[in-house]
Amino acid sequence: MDVITLRRPFDAHVHLRDGVALETVVPHVARDFGRALVMPNLTPPVTTTDGALAYRDRILAQVPSGVDFEPLMALYLTDATTPEEIERAAATPGVVAVKLYPAGATTNSDAGVTSIERVADALVAMEEHGLLLLVHGEVTRDDVDVFDREARYLDEVLAPVVEKHARLKVVLEHVTTAQGVDFVKSARDGVAGTITAHHLLYHRNHLLAGRIRPHLYCLPILKAAPHREALIEAATSGSPRFFLGTDSAPHPRGAKECHEGCAGCYTSPTALALYAEVFEAAGALGRLDDFASGFATAFYGLDPIDGEVTLRREEWTVPATYALGAEELVPLRANETLTWRRAD
Ligand code: NCD
Ligand code: ZN
Repeated sequence: MDVITLRRPFDAHVHLRDGVALETVVPHVARDFGRALVMPNLTPPVTTTDGALAYRDRILAQVPSGVDFEPLMALYLTDATTPEEIERAAATPGVVAVKLYPAGATTNSDAGVTSIERVADALVAMEEHGLLLLVHGEVTRDDVDVFDREARYLDEVLAPVVEKHARLKVVLEHVTTAQGVDFVKSARDGVAGTITAHHLLYHRNHLLAGRIRPHLYCLPILKAAPHREALIEAATSGSPRFFLGTDSAPHPRGAKECHEGCAGCYTSPTALALYAEVFEAAGALGRLDDFASGFATAFYGLDPIDGEVTLRREEWTVPATYALGAEELVPLRANETLTWRRAD
């Protein structure tokens, strides 16, 4: 097979940032994706419906003319999020979810949730009004090893939430472990997981063996190789519980290549080619369309996206950098060769 045609994909987890960064990132995402669920971890975070709608307008202002792109918004859950705010968000077209960052878990998560008990009323309101809960599933305690934080979160926090709120739709974002895969597979209906391209392509040796590679540093951190195998199996299995969420997370080069570098891999311009590489290696190219478009659309209960994208087997070299305002943005696989390319 030398040509792959997909329904225009849905990136169910992406960081677009704000301000001048939108000028670079939004055109990259809108080129390949017809719809995206935009993460709210700005500084300050997007905690209100009004804030989400204003952010949406700033995003739409950067969509190239003639391109159809639908940003879907999520509120950033804090200890102070009220049931009224949840109700308002649920009644607002274009706001579809609430993102739970455990406080201190990742980039711009300081305002996140300090304990699940503190958001009990908000979770009840979400269940009642039909807003989805998107979870960055990692505990943040110092006594828990960074590689164990996802598995511990599932046992300690997420399993009880899923059980207690039987009608709440829950997405375990960026699943990175075999335990995460098992959790999603064996959960009740209404639980799904997103999987990034980088967690399908890399394991922790790629990040750490011999030399440290800051552009592979993301959170949750890359795990040992067998976890990657479990992710590939889940993504290519045809299960509607697993779908594409790139977690593309741009940071300026200087914030990655430094003392105390930021977590996040930038994959928006290359994500479809990267996923195609993984699905082809697994002999599952025929399942890429559902993973990239169909399953998330169904899980979110959305209308199908119009249009298609075509990838062609053609080698090309990923640019070394993109401009990010006055700074540089280094994409994943910078200067390396990819085997799939957008046909137009
Ligand atoms: C994300 C970011 O930079 O906003 N970073 C990351 O490593 N994935 C935050 C997140 O999704 O954890
Ligand atoms: Zn993310």
